[in-house]
Amino acid sequence: MVSDRKKLTAVLGVTGGIACYKAVELVRLLVKDDFTVRVIMTHGAREFVTPLTFQTLSGNPVATDPFDLTQESEIGHINLADSADIFVIAPATANVIGKIAAGIADDLLTTVLMATKAPVLIAPAMNIHMYENPILQENLRKLRRVGYYFIEPTEGFLACGYEGKGRLPEPENILAEIQRLLRKKDLADERLLITAGPNREPIDPVRYISNRSSGKMGYALARAGLNRGAAVTLVSGPTALEPPAGARLIPVTTAAEMRRAVLEEFPSCTAVIMAAAVSDYRPIEYSSTKMKRGKTPLELRLEPNPDILKELGAKKDGKLLIGFAAETDDLAANAKKKLREKNLDMIVANDVTQEGSGFDGDTNIATIVDRSGASRALPLMTKDELADQILDHLLALKSRR
Ligand code: C5P
Repeated sequence: MVSDRKKLTAVLGVTGGIACYKAVELVRLLVKDDFTVRVIMTHGAREFVTPLTFQTLSGNPVATDPFDLTQESEIGHINLADSADIFVIAPATANVIGKIAAGIADDLLTTVLMATKAPVLIAPAMNIHMYENPILQENLRKLRRVGYYFIEPTEGFLACGYEGKGRLPEPENILAEIQRLLRKKDLADERLLITAGPNREPIDPVRYISNRSSGKMGYALARAGLNRGAAVTLVSGPTALEPPAGARLIPVTTAAEMRRAVLEEFPSCTAVIMAAAVSDYRPIEYSSTKMKRGKTPLELRLEPNPDILKELGAKKDGKLLIGFAAETDDLAANAKKKLREKNLDMIVANDVTQEGSGFDGDTNIATIVDRSGASRALPLMTKDELADQILDHLLALKSRR
């Protein structure tokens, strides 16, 4: 229960999927957490659950029809849009996602959504094949690009009989995501310089050496920072990810390019978070023409790249420096050594051999070590959640200064 908080309003759009029954529980949890809840149901949703259920639990009339004169005079679609501190659609069907992505506002939910300035959190839930449909995926990407937030469906048994990704996350987890999005802007004074993703070190015009970094951790940090009011510059190696709306993106390829961009941005930031998996080595020679296939072994000679973070550690300039340590053995000892050698304030270590940790996945298991020597082992969590933990720790270090 939240006590010292102004009462916030969550507008909850419920669309017509079988997971509607979980939205009932979400309303109960929101009310318990002291939210004013105003529910909008689509025609499809009303086939699954009656408005009376939502009305009883929320204590507010349920809006359903833009052309109902009584509803419009008593609730008003612009009034509803303006009242929202957060706008949640759970469950969101493929249909409503398609409509939003296409700019269609042909019922009350899509009309109110079009008019809101509140952050929007969408919880898709559907059959696995619908979720994997490239048109749906394209719509998700489009909406992410313009700043909508999503909570991913979970895997498991689906009402249609299939097993797979498509289940609406548990109401507790949706509530946690809502709370996360509504956090106060406690990083409004920070200008974060975040690096993400891998580097590519060219061998010839068609080949390069690289690593398995997906960039997800760095992008999660950028999203979390923006959400908490920080200005974010994201220096990113090549990734398949959508850049977070509101970040200043500087795309780079090689470690040398990343170094140049980071050094240029360093003076104007307050903290650096090096989540990138910087290439430690690059080929000594670059062949400007494609190397031909031969019958004898080919030796590739590599030279070390500069350690960007170490270089920043030598300058420091009053900034907070946060590094990452992807380890396969002796996690804590290696992390502490790096923290010392690079003169960092904090290091986020993860054992990339553990299930659910490290490259490419959406989750991580990390240990945060700071310069006081204190270390905190965190349980398995999403990279978004870990990003917030890292930023909490950054603020705590700041306040101790
Ligand atoms: O020493 P190691 O490469 O394991 O250190 C990892 C940390 O140092 C990461 O935060 C990474 O982004 C950074 N790093 C760097 N320049 C390098 C190699 C790593 O800034 N050449």
